[in-house]
Amino acid sequence: METSEKSYQLGKTLLEASEIQERVRELGEKISSDYSDEVPLVITVLRGSAIFSSDLVRHMSCDVEMEYLAVSSYGDGTKSTGAVKIVKDLDTDVAGREVLIIEDIIDSGLTLNFLVNHLASRYPASIRTCSLLLREIDQDNEPPLDYYGFKIKNDDFVVGYGLDYAQIYRNLPYIAVLNECS
Ligand code: IMP
Ligand code: MG
Repeated sequence: METSEKSYQLGKTLLEASEIQERVRELGEKISSDYSDEVPLVITVLRGSAIFSSDLVRHMSCDVEMEYLAVSSYGDGTKSTGAVKIVKDLDTDVAGREVLIIEDIIDSGLTLNFLVNHLASRYPASIRTCSLLLREIDQDNEPPLDYYGFKIKNDDFVVGYGLDYAQIYRNLPYIAVLNECS
């Protein structure tokens, strides 16, 4: 029986573990110096950002509080379904807080825009945003990004260091391209 299902395999390494660690350290130091004596509420967007944010906060010298929320928009594929939904909401009141949203990758910017609007309606003192990766595309819908780690090419689907394909590859310490194979 013929099947139209695509299969994928790990391709070339885009970012070595050591490059990622070095950049995450720089970002952590920059972010904590920007917050100086404030205590940001670091909001990790599950599940892709969990590994990045865990490393990032260990390079932040200010006090932090950590919170988690989960959204779904991609299902198990490599293409967005276009709709963002909150699957797990925060347990902390963000009113009056300095909020820092941590994302794994900004693709269309839809998820981050949705989250910023959603959290802004709960009266935080400020909202800043940080993504490990930013896709180089013409941003019609330019996401409000304050910090990012690396830019990647538009057509690369990447996995590792928290990013998955169908929930696999999150535990790779480096970031690699996923290739389609026939
Ligand atoms: P956006 O809403 O289009 O910006 O999509 C952002 C979300 O899509 C990210 O938080 C990821 O979960 C997922 N995503 C986009 N590109 C990739 C990729 O190359 N690898 C793994 N996940 C991706
Ligand atoms: Mg994500």
